[in-house]
Amino acid sequence: MNITVVHQDALAQATPLLVLGTWDGAPLGAPLADLIEAGDWAGAFKKTLLVYPRGAIPARRLLLVGLGKPDQATAERLTEVAAVAAQRARDLRVERYSFELPQSDRVAPAAAAQALAEGSLLGLYQYLHYRTGLSDHDRWAVGELAILSGDAAAEQGAQVGAAIARGVILARDLANGPGNDITPARLGDEALALGQRAGLQVTVLGLDELKAQGFGGIVGVGQGSAQPPRFIIMEYGAAQPGRPTVCLVGKGITFDTGGISIKPADRMDDMKMDMGGAAAVFGAVQAVAELQLPLHVVGLVASAENMPSSTAYKPGDILKTLSGKTIEVLNTDAEGRIVLADALYYAQRYQPDGIIDLATLTGAIVVALGTQATGIMANSDALAERVLQAGEITGERAWRLPLWDAYSDIIKSDIADIKNTGGRYGGAINAAAFLEHFVGDYPWVHMDIAGTAWTDQKPKAYTPKGATGVGVRLLIQALRTWSEARQ
Ligand code: BES
Ligand code: MN
Ligand code: ZN
Repeated sequence: MNITVVHQDALAQATPLLVLGTWDGAPLGAPLADLIEAGDWAGAFKKTLLVYPRGAIPARRLLLVGLGKPDQATAERLTEVAAVAAQRARDLRVERYSFELPQSDRVAPAAAAQALAEGSLLGLYQYLHYRTGLSDHDRWAVGELAILSGDAAAEQGAQVGAAIARGVILARDLANGPGNDITPARLGDEALALGQRAGLQVTVLGLDELKAQGFGGIVGVGQGSAQPPRFIIMEYGAAQPGRPTVCLVGKGITFDTGGISIKPADRMDDMKMDMGGAAAVFGAVQAVAELQLPLHVVGLVASAENMPSSTAYKPGDILKTLSGKTIEVLNTDAEGRIVLADALYYAQRYQPDGIIDLATLTGAIVVALGTQATGIMANSDALAERVLQAGEITGERAWRLPLWDAYSDIIKSDIADIKNTGGRYGGAINAAAFLEHFVGDYPWVHMDIAGTAWTDQKPKAYTPKGATGVGVRLLIQALRTWSEARQ
């Protein structure tokens, strides 16, 4: 869907569908007050009312959408409202529609336009790639949304929102893709294609290079699979004085059977999304490039398939990582931290101002926080704060867990440097304590998205079932404020 910003009066618009948001409790002005029976409409959040004005205004159809209480207005709530309206527009099979930019003292016009663009595009998202036999009517694509606003800042806001939404959509498409399609090699190809489209420098390391260069973690986890592993480097911009360097690191396990420490059959299919962190890195890097943020951003993805076989790594094995540190494997299902060990160590060569990793890392974080919040653990209060704030603004909420030194003792090994599990308790933190060994002194935040990368419900109107693309909106928010702070 193409999004434009048009400076025109809503009530004068000749359009197949005009969407007007109204605040809860605000009276309708003329001529709407005459069209709608008093008491039928209050403006409650996300409620809708479809009206056929029959010539009372030039629009063929009028959709009222409730914006909720004005003192509760946030950009994130407008994102939801936009998604609701976009879905109604598709149900009506219109080719285009117009949405009057809501006015609020709490949400500036640029942010409101961004929310409308993001919410509309994300609300329309469907993963239909493998559905055959659908008609054009089933696959209806609304062609155009005109945001009606006279504010100069709205245009840029809408373009920002559209770029972010495209990033989220890329992430959802990758994470919804089945394991037999989205393999490590395929992620490598996707990275090369992204590099071409977005003007990034992309390098993909294959098995021989990984072995030769000492990526013992990625090679070890991948050795049980017929699908060889990949390490992917996507670089936007370059190191420059005054330009922060940020490394985004993603876990890219394209399918996690658990390996020799195999998982139970029930819901194992969900483990096709064990590359949700990698997907978010792809989406974020694409959006950073589209938005031309004044930053140096390096996306790093460690990708492998975790399989049981006669060549697979085994409990008791010891792997030598890129850093030289050795890992005793106690459970082959704790594979994410092993591939991330190589990727995080690799990130240090950029001397980054920040490293943020995203990983569907532990079932323990799902037990701790459920599906409403991403768990974060960090060695830097400032960077953790930046991530938490971005989570509040975007609604991709994060919650910090402690990472005290004492947690490191739990993963000491008797015969190697560290072991890959720390027993039953505090599993999400033990995993983070493991990762911390590989980031040196660089400011780092670990985001455990195991509970938030996938949804069986429809938690928000702009988040359908399946892959959520979580992380992309949060990362772009964090990176945009980072670049503004340095300008
Ligand atoms: N990919 C899983 C974690 C996961 C669980 C992601 C549920 C999404 C939803 C990870 O590789 C894993 O298997 N972790 C183990 C670690 C344990 C063996 C120490 C876990 O959490 O059970
Ligand atoms: Mn696992
Ligand atoms: Zn995993």
